Amino acid sequence: MRIQKAVFPVGGLGTRFLPATKAIPKEMLPVVDKPLIQYAVEEAYSAGIRQMIFITGRHKRAIGDHFDAAFELEYELERGNKTELLQIVHAIKPDDMDCVFIRQPRPLGLGHAVLCAEKVVGQEPFAVLLADDLMVGRPGGPTVLEQMVRAYERSPGTVLAVQDVPREETRRYGVVDVRGVNESVAEVFGMVEKPVPEVAPSTLAVAGRYVLTPGVFESIRRQPRGAGGEIQLTDGIAALIGTEKVFAYRYEGKRYDCGSKEGFLQATIDLALADPELSGAVRSHMQAALA
Ligand code: G1P
Repeated sequence: MRIQKAVFPVGGLGTRFLPATKAIPKEMLPVVDKPLIQYAVEEAYSAGIRQMIFITGRHKRAIGDHFDAAFELEYELERGNKTELLQIVHAIKPDDMDCVFIRQPRPLGLGHAVLCAEKVVGQEPFAVLLADDLMVGRPGGPTVLEQMVRAYERSPGTVLAVQDVPREETRRYGVVDVRGVNESVAEVFGMVEKPVPEVAPSTLAVAGRYVLTPGVFESIRRQPRGAGGEIQLTDGIAALIGTEKVFAYRYEGKRYDCGSKEGFLQATIDLALADPELSGAVRSHMQAALA
């Protein structure tokens, strides 16, 4: 079955980015000139997905506004013959893309957020993208979610994007237990959320991209609260192992943890350097700043 729907859990408070995120959702913070959520939506679109499902919370209205028409703005741009800008604004939501917004009534965790999408997703496989992980594929290559959808088509089941991390960082991630570690796709035999380094089953950490099967909903529902007292997606997926196939996929590309200041700055610098209009100025500024 084709992957046609993507879920974006955007209900989090973004406390790591205060004061910037007091009145602005963290997913609306821009890297160069585009908000994080738009990068994630474009990635889903590139993978052939046309229905975007946002799981929102309080103070997230700006995300809905971003993907809605902006009549006054478009009118003014049209009147001023600003065709290029008008195209940029229209491209945010192509005509063949649908957006659905669901409120997560309480921030009970990532698993709970995904569960909020159950009625709209129905009995189909679907993708989940965490917008604060900004993923950039290899130059000229497919995006990370595109790669995962292809992996899913070759071997249907749950597909988790994974990357190797230093052992001391396992407590920040969901960590998988796999066999066949050298392959780009490996079967997962266990999974733990935020393990301390001493008990982490490996150093392969889950990045914020998932292809999930509808079986995960019932599985999440059956889980008690996990790490941090939250209803964890990792626990729901882990409980599927044995009944359904779960695969870890080593993606080609780079992940920026834009939930952290360091990752956010790295993304900003790298994307600015990759932008032909900005790279010259950024390069000479950096040289001068470091001199
Ligand atoms: C979430 C997931 C975790 C995953 C991480 C990737 O954690 O629970 O399994 O490794 O995203 O960014 P969070 O960063 O929301 O604490």
